[in-house]
Amino acid sequence: MTFAAVDVIRTKRDGGVLSDAQIDWVVDAYTRSEVADEQMAALAMAILLRGMTPAEIARWTAAMIASGERLDLSAVSRPTVDKHSTGGVGDKITLPLTPLVAACGAAVPQLSGRGLGHTGGTLDKLESIPGWRAALTNEEFVAQLRDVGAVVCAAGEGLAPADRKLYALRDVTGTVEAIPLIASSIMSKKIAEGTGALVLDVKVGSGAFMKSAADARELARTMVDLGKAHGVATVALLTDMSTPLGRAVGNAVEVAESVEVLAGGGPADVVELTLALADEMVAAAGLHADPARVLGSGKAMDSWRAMIRAQGGNPEAPLPVARETETVRAERDGYVSTVDAFGIGVAAWRLGAGRARKEDPVSAAAGVVLHKKPGDPVRAGEPLFELRTDDASRMPAALAEAVGAVLVAEVAPGPRALVMERIA
Ligand code: URA
Repeated sequence: MTFAAVDVIRTKRDGGVLSDAQIDWVVDAYTRSEVADEQMAALAMAILLRGMTPAEIARWTAAMIASGERLDLSAVSRPTVDKHSTGGVGDKITLPLTPLVAACGAAVPQLSGRGLGHTGGTLDKLESIPGWRAALTNEEFVAQLRDVGAVVCAAGEGLAPADRKLYALRDVTGTVEAIPLIASSIMSKKIAEGTGALVLDVKVGSGAFMKSAADARELARTMVDLGKAHGVATVALLTDMSTPLGRAVGNAVEVAESVEVLAGGGPADVVELTLALADEMVAAAGLHADPARVLGSGKAMDSWRAMIRAQGGNPEAPLPVARETETVRAERDGYVSTVDAFGIGVAAWRLGAGRARKEDPVSAAAGVVLHKKPGDPVRAGEPLFELRTDDASRMPAALAEAVGAVLVAEVAPGPRALVMERIA
């Protein structure tokens, strides 16, 4: 069936419900460039302003999946389970989590992205490991999943091409924030990837897409329902992203911190979230392993080394080190009251760890290392954080951003729950 794009736009603009046939047509016609960018931009804005019913979101997601290929993971004998995070600052959890859950007996197909703006990308982080490559063919992906049980790689061009095109358009038309479009974008890729189960880490706070728990809850509920409707066992955790995860924000520095976690150390919050997500993934995969014991046994580290080697990386090679560092110290005694995730994410970005445009390169060595976390006591003159970059001209702008993000007060802040809610 064929429609006039302008009629589809008018239906949504006026608060109507799109029919299944209209949705199937517009997503397909846009993928084939029959519907123009300016028409899809108008429709995306109408969706942002008017919303979509659950039935429209389900159909839109199905149309995005149908725009490309669906991977077949039936050659993998272990249960498959993936994790998706909506993105945050210092969020390196995929790095220790993927090999840990593989060491628990699951196969983890982790198709990841690159960073844009103040949030980092998993592929950018792993590319700081000498030799490691993000691009695998579908055959290599399935073979590594079968043989190693853990793969982190770039999504192939054939997976949900409608989403690739639409996401780039939303990025430049102020329409990223529409919950139906975020949910269908994420879930179309995860369902097309072929995973049997999925655990979502929906971030809430200054460093996240979703600034309020109410919005995060709505996004999580929408995605969990979409997953279930497509036969993927899906669970979501809402987790705090008001402050960075761990002490390292950047690329190589986050790899180093992840390796500390795999070695049995690392910051308490990174360990806590890794284990909380691993527990959910192991249960969703129908396994009975105890991730905390597996982490302590060293098997997750073995799995990490195998995963990095399988993609050409050398897990023993030294990581890149920045040419310039600057340490900021406390001006007075007190307690660290705030380390704002957004401010620290922007500082890391200014230092070169992130990119402003898709095609920009990133610096492996740039980033921020926190010496104090919220609640820590501090004395005047003690280091609060360290900025690292290869390009000294980036330091002043990053410094201005980071100094405003870290506050010291007379009294300690109250405790904050890292895992805020579970939505199943
Ligand atoms: N990540 C995605 O993959 N899609 C969105 O729309 C937002 C975040």
